[in-house]
Amino acid sequence: MPKTLIEPFRIKSIEPIRVTTRADREQLLAAAHLNVFLLHAEDVLIDWLTDSGTGAMSSRQWGAIMEGDESYAGARSFYRLEKVIQDITGMPHFVPTHQGRAAEKVLFSAVCKAGDVVPNNCHFDTTRGNLESMGVQALDLVAAVGLQPATLHPFKGNIDLERLEAVLRQDGARIPFGMLTVTNNTGGGQPVSMANIRACAALLKKHGKPFIMDVCRFAENAMFIKMREPGYENTSVKAIAQEMFSYADGATMSAKKDGMVNIGGFIVLRSDEWLDAVRSGLIMMEGFPTYGGMAGRDLEALAVGLEEGLDEDYLRYRLRTAEYLGERLDAAGVGFVKPTGGHAVYIDARTVLPDMPVAHYPAWALCNALYLEGGIRGVEIGSVMFGKRGDDGVETYHSMELVRLAFPRRMYTQSHFDYAAEVIAEVKQKAAHIRGVKITKQPKFLRHFTAQFDWA
Ligand code: F0G
Repeated sequence: MPKTLIEPFRIKSIEPIRVTTRADREQLLAAAHLNVFLLHAEDVLIDWLTDSGTGAMSSRQWGAIMEGDESYAGARSFYRLEKVIQDITGMPHFVPTHQGRAAEKVLFSAVCKAGDVVPNNCHFDTTRGNLESMGVQALDLVAAVGLQPATLHPFKGNIDLERLEAVLRQDGARIPFGMLTVTNNTGGGQPVSMANIRACAALLKKHGKPFIMDVCRFAENAMFIKMREPGYENTSVKAIAQEMFSYADGATMSAKKDGMVNIGGFIVLRSDEWLDAVRSGLIMMEGFPTYGGMAGRDLEALAVGLEEGLDEDYLRYRLRTAEYLGERLDAAGVGFVKPTGGHAVYIDARTVLPDMPVAHYPAWALCNALYLEGGIRGVEIGSVMFGKRGDDGVETYHSMELVRLAFPRRMYTQSHFDYAAEVIAEVKQKAAHIRGVKITKQPKFLRHFTAQFDWA
């Protein structure tokens, strides 16, 4: 058997990438105030800012788009997608939204109130934001191993069941439901095992609490279970996904990930207890229940995308891509969160810039260096994103300095990954010349998106 795992698709439509020189990029980054979020995407060679909504759709999806029924109420496209979602999730109630954070907002507004506590392995930023803005505490209870970047473990997304039980005992009255995020994006795109999902569900049930999953990357999680959890080697990924959902009472999904579409999301619910409240909120915030925040054509593309996202050849190639880049980084002596997750590689900037003071934002500096050296755009997950400047001007820093390279689905080929590996190795070689940055202008919240910088 040949060793090379090929992209299990061929290219039918292409989008040219504009090649830039280092001199171009120096100018462009300066004009963007040394913040890659402020670059024009056209000036980026390899855009690994996010895997969300950035992937390539298949010819089947583009074909389905022409079938979109744009009726306001009762569109055919809604019923088609509903069938696909009911089949995968086993849940009767499907509520479409325009993306994941809208699903969160609609669900949380219907069932949470100020003073509540919602436990999760790790809340994604928008999940946390949606809860905290309602006065709800978003509690992260990922297992200790999930916080150790260099430690190998097959399921670093698992929730710490003992801590969950303690919280249920202590604060049960304030908990409207428990959550699990699969895969755990905040922790490195790490999967949750079926055993952990099952045990988490049982624990919540024992305490009379519903169990909601954040399932943006459920197909990648299911593939990890197939590859890593004894007993699932011969089970289809779809059957694994169905079993994952069988333990839950509901889910929120950003379809921009494993739904293989550029926009879309949904809520599913097993019981109709919350349905009226959810649908009332939906009508106010998103739209009529048979389209939510989506066009009929988007519903069609998602119906096809959900099935394609469960294709095992695709998933094997997908997970292998991240692992492959990890191997190349290992060879170059660049550290990263191990093992590689499903949708991204998280470089540990400290292994490239061990001596740079944290006040010069080493992960931000590395992010800029990747752009300057090779036109690659990643995202800093470090002290710019999670640090804060107090009113007294004193800065608090994050515990880790990471750069996330997140891979759009079915978009970049192996040569793009080889190129990126060479660029990263080159940056590591020249690390002594990488310059840190200082913030010259920043907003009070979510500063990484719009802050401006100068060289430190
Ligand atoms: N939950 C998780 C685990 C996510 O990763 C995201 C988005 C959302 C919810 C929100 O979904 O973007 O459709 O509103 N993650 C993207 C990222 C933005 O880059 O990781 P959305």
